[in-house]
Amino acid sequence: MHNIVLIPGDGIGPEITRSVTEIIKAAGVDINWIPAKAGLGAFEETGDPLPKETEELIDTYRIALKGPLTTPVGTGFRSVNVALRKKYNLYANLRPAQTLPNVPSPVNNVDLVLFRENTQGLYIGNERWLDDEHTKAESIAYIDKQSSEKVITAAFEYARKFGRKKVSIVHKANILKFSSGLFLSAGLEVSKNYPEIECEEIIVDNMAMQMVMRPERFDVVVTTNLFGDILSDLASGLVGGLGVTGAANLGDDCAIFEAVHGSAPDIAGKNLANPIALLFSALLLMDHIDEKVAAQKIHDAVLEVLANHKDACTRDIGGKGTTSTFTHAVIQAMEMD
Ligand code: NAI
Ligand code: MG
Repeated sequence: MHNIVLIPGDGIGPEITRSVTEIIKAAGVDINWIPAKAGLGAFEETGDPLPKETEELIDTYRIALKGPLTTPVGTGFRSVNVALRKKYNLYANLRPAQTLPNVPSPVNNVDLVLFRENTQGLYIGNERWLDDEHTKAESIAYIDKQSSEKVITAAFEYARKFGRKKVSIVHKANILKFSSGLFLSAGLEVSKNYPEIECEEIIVDNMAMQMVMRPERFDVVVTTNLFGDILSDLASGLVGGLGVTGAANLGDDCAIFEAVHGSAPDIAGKNLANPIALLFSALLLMDHIDEKVAAQKIHDAVLEVLANHKDACTRDIGGKGTTSTFTHAVIQAMEMD
């Protein structure tokens, strides 16, 4: 049995986590979900968006599935997502993007997994004004060899584990010769340990164009924080958007899995939320705990429902159904299997 911390979160979080845990249970995976609070609901209840008890549970179990959290604007409320990433040094953000049957998308043939460095680059917040009038500013990007090697190694290890053929290192070393150059040279060095995996380097602007023009040529992709932020949303857009994109935040000894969308207050509590994004995050979690067979079974069932029972799917992807009808359809597809 696996002990996993479950943070349902705010807005649509509870509805989609219920759907996901039902589907995983139906797939026969024995998980003991340990409920924990975070986000706006936790703040209203306890005065803390990330209560101590939740941190203690993550300290103990080191693995969590997290629903979306509402971040109220202008309350001095710290971002729980950022706090978790920092505290557990979740240096790799992993986001798969795969073309799905019957989900409206601008291109076909996408099947890539993007690794984004999650802790450095321009995100360290080292910014300052250069004059009193605030007409000049600078922001410093910080990159070091060790962190670059870690995320790039994670990308190559993933490629090896899942039989993927190529890793593309995305950079801008032609202009940012030091910081981006360091990331690229670390990548080329790491790639020597994986002779069976093809390694290519590609400049980020060309990458953005190639992802749209010839997305099928990408397999595993690894890049620095800001480029990864932008390209991972581009990748989501290529396959149908927020409702169908899962993600993982990985560290050396802790992993937190989450959907990329927010708490969707406009549809919360209405049984309209698409659980696919959180479900795909949960499949990454199952891969992580070596429940690969069950993960594949669920993935196949989702593809079957999308392909042949589109009416059961939620409206955001053109279906006529609800969170519940989709959940039941996936469970039924697994039973028919
Ligand atoms: P959002 O992702 O919650 O919603 C954007 C639009 O997409 C809405 O129309 C929503 O109904 C729709 N949508 C999102 N997820 C969906 C799903 N699973 N099924 C069907 N439709 C879906 O983004 P928004 O409105 O900018 O943010 C709302 C709240 O969520 C804010 O408080 C924000 O801070 C928070 N947020 C939290 C994130 C996290 O915890 N990782 C990430 C992004 C936003
Ligand atoms: Mg982003």
